[in-house]
Amino acid sequence: MSQRVYIFDTTLRDGEQSPGCSMTVSEKLKMAAKLVDLGVDVLEAGFPIASVGDFEAVQAVSREYKDMSVAALARCTKLDIERAAEALKDARRPRLHTFMATSDIHLKFKLKKSREQVMEEVVKSIQLARQFCDDVEFSAEDAARTDQDYLEAISKAAVAAGARTINLPDTVGYSIPSEYAQLIGRIVNALGDTAVVSVHCHDDLGLAVANSLAAIEAGARQIECTINGIGERAGNCSLEEIVMILKTRGDKLPYFTGINTEHLYSASVLLASMITFGPQPNKAIVGENAFAHEAGIHQDGYLKEKSTYEIIDPRTVGVPEGRLVLGKHSGRHALKDRCADLGFPDLTKEELDAVYKGFCELADRVKGVRNDAIAAICREATSSRVSA
Ligand code: KIV
Ligand code: ZN
Repeated sequence: MSQRVYIFDTTLRDGEQSPGCSMTVSEKLKMAAKLVDLGVDVLEAGFPIASVGDFEAVQAVSREYKDMSVAALARCTKLDIERAAEALKDARRPRLHTFMATSDIHLKFKLKKSREQVMEEVVKSIQLARQFCDDVEFSAEDAARTDQDYLEAISKAAVAAGARTINLPDTVGYSIPSEYAQLIGRIVNALGDTAVVSVHCHDDLGLAVANSLAAIEAGARQIECTINGIGERAGNCSLEEIVMILKTRGDKLPYFTGINTEHLYSASVLLASMITFGPQPNKAIVGENAFAHEAGIHQDGYLKEKSTYEIIDPRTVGVPEGRLVLGKHSGRHALKDRCADLGFPDLTKEELDAVYKGFCELADRVKGVRNDAIAAICREATSSRVSA
């Protein structure tokens, strides 16, 4: 079995649908550019039936990023699938992502359908989706709480109907790693090489990353995740964390992704500049304190030999060198360097003037200007040159 793990980014879909995270089509396009630099394998750009904005975002990302595999979400209904297919029409590598709940609790209270009905609708929907595109994914929503015999049967039926990827979400973040690994291992065995098994973990118990890792060890080869771990409720598996676990602990985990990790920090900052919150300061990998050493003993050890207290070279994830906080006394030069670190390396003189003006106005009001605020000023100053 290949050890390559595919990264399916859903920042612009599951992430964007959560409180405080909505983005305009042009913001989604800018974020998509960063996700392309990052090297994600699949970019889920929206849920076209949900809103005109989602439809247009999928359409715009499909048109702009021709080499990218672009996914659109659809429930297992004719209307949803046709709308998603229409939004993906111009994509060179479209993925139609169908989903339907499979747990008894969802069947009884939400769908009010029998297992047989759900099975039939899933099969019909995948067959319909295959008429529009070869690359169809099926997600068994609430898979982690689904009866395992039924989940195995519906996964096999979905593959027979034409799905290439079977995603088994822990929709409510309820599972624990040993239990989830057992479930994933069972379905991986049952499907063999007929489909890629994917996971999509929510973080309600703070286990989204641990569950995703357990799933990889059990044979899952696609991880659905988001920048900064944003997503419904407590969020999704954090892309930067799962990727850096695999990269840092290759001694125990012989798996690899195609992610260009030096873009992780600027992706985090860019996202934070577009939504209403950034990662907490002590967030692994991208938090403001993730590479800060405060205690005297730690500083002493770190200055003698970095590896005493640092397991990742911050440059590996693109964290700017030094912990310089820019404030009202910082000059244009330091600001220009910081803009480059944050993903704006080629500002024109006029753009830099505008950024400097915006920065000075903000620096007059606040003590230290955060990186996401600087990124927001850069986005504003460069907005007219980016295609929307
Ligand atoms: O959490 C979930 O189950 C989902 C599916 C639609 C993939 O977001
Ligand atoms: Zn989800």
